[in-house]
Amino acid sequence: MKITVVGTGYVGLVSGACLAEVGNDVLCLDVNPEKIRVLKEGGIPIHEPGLDQVVARNVAAGRLHFTTDIEEAVRFGTIQFIAVGTPPDEDGSADLQYVLAAARNIGRLMNDYKVVIDKSTVPVGTADKVRAAIAEELRKRGVVVPYSVVSNPEFLKEGAAVDDFMRPDRIVVGAEDDQAINLMRALYAPFQRNHEKLVIMDVRSAELTKYAANAMLATRISFMNELAVLAEKLGADIEQVRQGIGSDPRIGWHFLYAGCGYGGSCFPKDVKALIQTAAGAGQGLKVLQAVEDANDAQKLVLVDKIVRRFGEDLTGKHFALWGLAFKPNTDDMREAPSRVIIHELFKRGATVTAYDPVAMDETRRIFGDDSRLSYASRPMQALQGADALVIVTEWKEFRSPDFEAIKAILKSPAIFDGRNMYDPALPRAAGLDYEAIGRK
Ligand code: NAI
Repeated sequence: MKITVVGTGYVGLVSGACLAEVGNDVLCLDVNPEKIRVLKEGGIPIHEPGLDQVVARNVAAGRLHFTTDIEEAVRFGTIQFIAVGTPPDEDGSADLQYVLAAARNIGRLMNDYKVVIDKSTVPVGTADKVRAAIAEELRKRGVVVPYSVVSNPEFLKEGAAVDDFMRPDRIVVGAEDDQAINLMRALYAPFQRNHEKLVIMDVRSAELTKYAANAMLATRISFMNELAVLAEKLGADIEQVRQGIGSDPRIGWHFLYAGCGYGGSCFPKDVKALIQTAAGAGQGLKVLQAVEDANDAQKLVLVDKIVRRFGEDLTGKHFALWGLAFKPNTDDMREAPSRVIIHELFKRGATVTAYDPVAMDETRRIFGDDSRLSYASRPMQALQGADALVIVTEWKEFRSPDFEAIKAILKSPAIFDGRNMYDPALPRAAGLDYEAIGRK
């Protein structure tokens, strides 16, 4: 099949590369010429494990191409995926300007049947807006060209995106005409394994499903985070509680880890957007509002602990920070808790040396040339001259550090661990103060 992917970011590039991997001809379009230049020169603009090989293999096979030429992109694919960003606007609603611009481009330039697929996370009702935008462009041109609009939200996780796309738990398709449904079945046939992965439903339900999934996961995290704060007050240990409840199959093990708040490009914005969608429909989402409030508070928990030890005025204090990305295996810094923590430390007069295996370039781009923030090329190097260590992302390489060496380097030997990486007995045995989330 000939497929165009509009938007070559985390979702668009992974989707395009994986669809080429199963034999399709794929053209990825982006309006950012720098991204397309990097890709055309054989580079990858994001860090995503395994993606470089899939891209290189399919470019070499002549199945995967990149362009900034909108006309070429619209003409190319019968299937047109829209995978552009849907960032929050001022009130938290999803900003649809990029999605609708992509739709208008398709309407402006298409000459034959297209299936336009919303892969971006978009509020309920967006498919209708996409349909209307295309219709308007066709009307302006005075032509009639058939097309279908399908909702096909994406559930891949950054850090495991290629695997998630190649071996999905489920493929949600919201479609209401047979021609589009049949094309979607054919498109995803190579991704079906032992059991049916396609869940076909109406368009609005598909749009809501994506928000429901992210809101449910964010709810679990905020719930565990609140319990962790309570556990500390009551002298209980959230890790033991997690093991006690996760073994119940009705609860399950996933997304039960207390930490210093969720971040990333999806949960924060999708929670906000669903709250706004509900408000627009005249409904307050009390549970989800609390999930968001709890997460905002949770991003400050480590700073509160630091202030309790060092006082509100941190002038002259210097902190080592391990982990910048919002989670391991990605360089994505969108809404990362590290950003809030760094700003809060700066606000109180402290300076920071950070280490992250892949997200330091992105952090430099965000913080610019700020003399209060420096970078280390190795985890232990970040500790030089630091009063204490703050851990924000649970990268594997932080799992078994030399606690004795950490104790010897830090001026005020304390670890503030926002990801509960260690058995508290280990750093404590080395003479370190160990502050984690909800641990005894
Ligand atoms: P991204 O910001 O990495 O990529 C979006 C790309 O679209 C950018 O490269 C931008 O230049 C390009 N773009 C914007 N307008 C365009 C236009 N008119 N024509 C062509 N290209 C255009 O965003 P990301 O993370 O890939 O997310 C895309 C959508 O997928 C969002 O709605 C997001 O919520 C959703 N999503 C993201 C996941 C993730 O893990 N990042 C997972 C599942 C869904």
